[in-house]
Amino acid sequence: MLLNGEYFSIFVSMKKIAVFASGTGSNAMNLIRYFSDNLNAKVHFVLSNNESAKVLDSAKKLGIKTYCFSNQQVSDGSFLVELCRKEEIDYIVLAGYLRLIPKKLIDEYPKKMINLHPSLLPKYGGKGMYGTNVHKAVLESKERESGITIHFVNEVFDKGQIIAQFHCSIEEEDTLFSIEKKIRILEHSYLPKVVETVIMNETLF
Ligand code: GRF
Repeated sequence: MLLNGEYFSIFVSMKKIAVFASGTGSNAMNLIRYFSDNLNAKVHFVLSNNESAKVLDSAKKLGIKTYCFSNQQVSDGSFLVELCRKEEIDYIVLAGYLRLIPKKLIDEYPKKMINLHPSLLPKYGGKGMYGTNVHKAVLESKERESGITIHFVNEVFDKGQIIAQFHCSIEEEDTLFSIEKKIRILEHSYLPKVVETVIMNETLF
């Protein structure tokens, strides 16, 4: 119980998240919104390698700083490390980012760089397995379920330590479009919460 004149002083350090995205950015937007009134973390900037990526305009409209660099620049580890140090970034989330992350940046963010993948890894992962390519392969293989994987990033595409997976069923009548929709619902429901859980429980991972 607090007595007259006494108070607790709690110092909460706000973590800064950088989101990397190459396309539409529905997940990036979802993360920005989720963390906009969060006391523990905020999306500090969105980075893209694609100057016509819709995510850049959408993020700007929400008042988030954006960066767009050429493929040559984003494959330069030192350049990205310097940027993230300058911006004091604590966590990086890859949400639809299609370039391989340079080793220097991975080494700078051990267990602090998180990727979202639209399948149940290790199935349907690896180079070229992104977006509808994944769902097409799932459909052609007549899988009865699919889902999303949220994992830490290492040097091999989609091979880092898995943090969480969420499943959905696939029915006879499902199409590319309907699978994509089911996956999108899982992504939007769970990615922000998992990112927050990692940030709040660093020592658990
Ligand atoms: C998502 O399906 C994600 O799993 C994958 O790329 C897609 C990005 O979608 N890595 P969006 O740009 O966030 O809408």
